Amino acid sequence: MAEAMKGLKRTHRCTEVSKADCGSTVTVMGWVQKRRNLGSLIFVDLRDRSGLLQIIFDEKDIGAEGFEKAYTLRNEYVIAVVGRVEMREGAVNENLKTGELELRATGIRILSESETPPFPIEENSQTKEELRLKYRFLDLRRPDIQDKLMLRSRVAMEVRNFLTEEGFLEIETPILIKSTPEGARDYLVPSRVHPGHFYALPQSPQLFKQLLMCSGYDRYFQIAKCFRDEDLRADRQPEFTQIDMELSFVDVDDVIDVNERLLARLFRKVLGIEIQLPIQRMTWQEAMDRFGSDKPDLRFGMELHDVSELVKDCGFSVFTNALAAGGSVRGINADGQGSMPRKKIDALVEFAKGYGAKGLAYLVINPDGSYKSSFAKFMTEEELHALVEAMNGQPGDLLLFAADKNKVVWDVLGALRIELAKNLGLLKKDDYKFLWVTEFPLLEWDDEAARFTAMHHPFTMLMEEDLDKLESDPGAVRAKAYDIVLNGTELGGGSVRIHQGDIQSRMFDLLGFTKEQAQEQFGFLLNAFKYGVPPHAGLAFGFDRLMMLMTGADSIREVIAFPKVKDASDLMTEAPGTVDEKQLEELCLSVTEEEKDENQGA
Ligand code: AMO
Ligand code: AMP
Repeated sequence: MAEAMKGLKRTHRCTEVSKADCGSTVTVMGWVQKRRNLGSLIFVDLRDRSGLLQIIFDEKDIGAEGFEKAYTLRNEYVIAVVGRVEMREGAVNENLKTGELELRATGIRILSESETPPFPIEENSQTKEELRLKYRFLDLRRPDIQDKLMLRSRVAMEVRNFLTEEGFLEIETPILIKSTPEGARDYLVPSRVHPGHFYALPQSPQLFKQLLMCSGYDRYFQIAKCFRDEDLRADRQPEFTQIDMELSFVDVDDVIDVNERLLARLFRKVLGIEIQLPIQRMTWQEAMDRFGSDKPDLRFGMELHDVSELVKDCGFSVFTNALAAGGSVRGINADGQGSMPRKKIDALVEFAKGYGAKGLAYLVINPDGSYKSSFAKFMTEEELHALVEAMNGQPGDLLLFAADKNKVVWDVLGALRIELAKNLGLLKKDDYKFLWVTEFPLLEWDDEAARFTAMHHPFTMLMEEDLDKLESDPGAVRAKAYDIVLNGTELGGGSVRIHQGDIQSRMFDLLGFTKEQAQEQFGFLLNAFKYGVPPHAGLAFGFDRLMMLMTGADSIREVIAFPKVKDASDLMTEAPGTVDEKQLEELCLSVTEEEKDENQGA
């Protein structure tokens, strides 16, 4: 039977008990991790969020009734134990913080019983993630997850401390808003009072933080929930958290400065790791040319080489055709991988095709210096030598080439680089390589819409040097936008905002907004800008991604208490669910039959 607290007070968490407490009486409370009966003695490992403590029940100390109770304990029972701290008589457990100690019980209360859990509560569980997420409340008892969430809490506190010291104010912005132009699909909430009208959940607090700058708050931050209805991956969730900030009277360097000091502080205080400041910076163009990615992983080399010039007159039409179509030919040198079996090379070709490549040309430099290649027969000996030299090829190396439009070549070789590094075990989790990527293109050409779209959002300022190219050569205009990248993951990003009305109008024209459309969508911001707006800039970190990297987790699901799975559903609560016909009526909504069927199938 479950007993009540009735005045009993916990004095220590399990691992707060130390040698210094030997001889004194303490009260601990927690879950039964394990019980072993040794005839006249019962041993229990008690678990709370701090860790484990061994408890020894001896009838001599606890009496017949208490001993009887201890005898009924099963895994995950919740108990309170009063006892005397002693040095262990048995073997010391080196793996436990309290491994030298034990608690000799003098009293016990069973606070609640437990059914047998569907999977064992243990570190590094082998249980399938689906089952664990269905019983997330049990999964969350596992020490490795608890450690991650405790670290997350410490980081949040450290963020608040640091930003407050730096003069930032924590201000909340609304969750029920009009849709913001962040690029992903919105989650919509129907209005009951205004039938046929919808709120959107914020993809980020972007417009509100800019308004706060207009209102003179000058440095704002928020640990903000954001919602995006997009395809999920290991580092994406439909609702996620940003460490969001905005600053007035600043330029790019000021935002970078405060944020790299924030990162340095978090890593030093929470992980004891020193980050060398300033963090390296690289323009977007350099990142693409050298790594084929706007979020390059700098933990290893294997950089891209542009060999277009060298092969432009060769006899291999795959190369020359790509160049004639305005593309490029680039390669990477998979150092020392020349002995890779043909099957594995074929697998790399397939991998490349997954990123849009039509193929992948390769050249192996045999130990004797001869070549084995998918395209050698189309080239002269001199051309091959020149190519190998340009790639710094040595005997034993494997050279891989892609020929296509720049974007495809970058995507393919960028992804291939990471894949090779993974296969070769080059991605060390405890090696933290930070990078600022700057000078992103302002605009992106959208083939489908046949016009430019904003790469970040329509309020991103361009580099002053490029102002006169805005109409004549929009594709070449660089933005005052920056991303912070860690080990190949985009941790955060931001930009200086446009605060000049004339530039904003030119931007809207370019993006194909009529005056009316701009007013309809962003009228409140444009209005605010009429009444005195300071130059401002900001940035947002993905808090979940930051925690994923700080804890060495493989997915952001491991650092979110109640995450969703790939199809955006919650396996525990079974959200999203259907609602009563009455609720729908109130909202003046009806679900068409087709959609109903689809939902049932999902
Ligand atoms: P951005 O869209 O780049 O910028 O988002 C900032 C950071 O948020 C994280 N992030 C995500 N994390 C988990 N799941 C997702 N679905 C997801 N989407 C984004 C990333 C990303 O770098 N308002 C601007 C910031 C600004 O300009 O100040 C913004 O939201 O780590
Ligand atoms: P093919 O002429 O199609 O038989 O291709 C000859 C070699 O070039 C094969 O190894 C292909 O995988 C490779 N290849 C084909 N298209 C490309 C491309 N766009 N870039 C690089 N290599 C390619």
